[in-house]
Amino acid sequence: MHKQVTSSFLRRSSCLLSKGSSNATKQLLGAGAGASLTQQHQNQAQSYQHVTMQTRQSSHSPMGLPPTTPRKKVTLNTLQSMHKKGEKITMITAHDFPSAHVAEHAGMDMVLVGDSLAMVALGMEDTSEVLVEEMLLHCRSVARATSRAFTIGDMPMGSYEISPQQAVSTAIRFIKEGRMSAVKLEGGAEMAPTIRAITTAGIPVLAHIGLTPQRQNALGGFRVQGKSKESAKRLLRDALAVQEAGAFAMVVEAVPQEVASFITGLLKVPTIGIGAGNGTSGQVLVQADMAGNFPPGRFLPKFVKKYGDVWGETLRAIESYRDEVKGGQYPAEEHTYPMPKEEVEAFVGDVRRLMRANASAEAEGDGEKST
Ligand code: KIV
Repeated sequence: MHKQVTSSFLRRSSCLLSKGSSNATKQLLGAGAGASLTQQHQNQAQSYQHVTMQTRQSSHSPMGLPPTTPRKKVTLNTLQSMHKKGEKITMITAHDFPSAHVAEHAGMDMVLVGDSLAMVALGMEDTSEVLVEEMLLHCRSVARATSRAFTIGDMPMGSYEISPQQAVSTAIRFIKEGRMSAVKLEGGAEMAPTIRAITTAGIPVLAHIGLTPQRQNALGGFRVQGKSKESAKRLLRDALAVQEAGAFAMVVEAVPQEVASFITGLLKVPTIGIGAGNGTSGQVLVQADMAGNFPPGRFLPKFVKKYGDVWGETLRAIESYRDEVKGGQYPAEEHTYPMPKEEVEAFVGDVRRLMRANASAEAEGDGEKST
């Protein structure tokens, strides 16, 4: 029975109608049956619009509301006053609307669209591959979720090192197209003129010293920095130079705790540590790492603390869904839309009668052909 009801069957039925060959069919389809398809589509679209304006019965709905406890927007002044008071500054990475939305709800002070998204969101081997255009797409989705947090876009390798002019034009794109509040760039004293040029253009800069992953090839890999007296002095020179150039804060990555704490104490601007111990002005972690959104066995640096098991929970949920679909338990009654019983019966009855009328019209036609 089901197999017989095809779209060509329905087309044939409307053909019968337009030829006026079956009054029964006309009656079965009702008064609107003779209307043109375009008209029918218009009617459908109008009633769909009507329905969607009331309730949105679609899985493609917006992700949700801003946090229920509104907090004041974080600005450079807020960060400075936190630093003055000795209040730790919290920063986390986000790479799309959902990861930024949850960071915003959790009350993060700063959200960084780090180029680590090359690996955690785009599956690349390292950060050197990611393009400005890709970063900007991620920045825009993060910006839509962050009304309070101070947002920073990470300028990718190759987009700022050639000249201060190149850096300024990339930074402007992160503000205008990426909708970020500030940019981050990697490098110490050698980047001071570049930081100066960007801040002179009115764009706040977060510097990044110590282990600078974009320069992993020059650093001989992802190695801890500042471990010797000379290397610690270089780090201090870098910190002072980027501060002098106008950076509002700096990320200090993979540095011994004593060195990071000592340098922090000598600076006017905050340090945001990652793998630099507890003596910095704030902390940053990559969200996928700290939330445990990765399969077991993946390498994690020593400084990462895994606060959750997003991978495990998502895997469990998807496996249960798979099992319930295969086993026919999902969707259950409560996941379906109700229809009055008499409407269902009338619909099925109408279609069955239509099929019978259609079959006898076809049989008549076959009889005529054979005589
Ligand atoms: O790209 C990134 O996520 C970063 C942070 C680790 C600071 O640079």
